[in-house]
Amino acid sequence: MSELESVARRILNCTLCDLCQGRTHAVPGEGPEQARIMLIGEGPGAQEDLQGRPFVGASGQFMMETLATVGLRRQDVFITNLVKCRPPGNRDPQPDEILMCGDTYLNLQIELIDPQIIVTLGRFSLGRFVPQASISRVHGQPQHVGGRLIYPLLHPAAALRRPEWRQAFQVDVQRLADFIKN
Ligand code: URA
Repeated sequence: MSELESVARRILNCTLCDLCQGRTHAVPGEGPEQARIMLIGEGPGAQEDLQGRPFVGASGQFMMETLATVGLRRQDVFITNLVKCRPPGNRDPQPDEILMCGDTYLNLQIELIDPQIIVTLGRFSLGRFVPQASISRVHGQPQHVGGRLIYPLLHPAAALRRPEWRQAFQVDVQRLADFIKN
């Protein structure tokens, strides 16, 4: 078993915070261990909790369709979340949950995958890496933090809710593809 698989196994059995009490499945994330791009969302939603896989609901489908328009396929990227268990009723993940799950699992996943670009999805994910940044100001603009390259995207669920955010999401994904090419 690879180290990344052993992290996933620990996540599936994790009881470090109360989110474990309401979950059907923990969602460690998935994708190639050598992925150059790592996508980091907020936390599993209802579908993700049921299936144990990240971004398999409506917002995930929209995100993957948008990435496909620039030639990025699901099997090319590693997809995970800040917190690995569904917050009840899809509430926001709490700072202590993000800290515990992030310091215990996400940091390790990043270290093991060592991606060239981390794509953050939404303000909580951006906040983990660039705490002072405002997502409405910096989405679509690469950020250099502690030797890592962060590319902030709006959260796809937000993009699905508002046509102007949807368009911004699509523009940012195109810029991401251009950025990767150069
Ligand atoms: N939203 C997220 O942030 N993550 C998922 O896995 C699904 C929806």
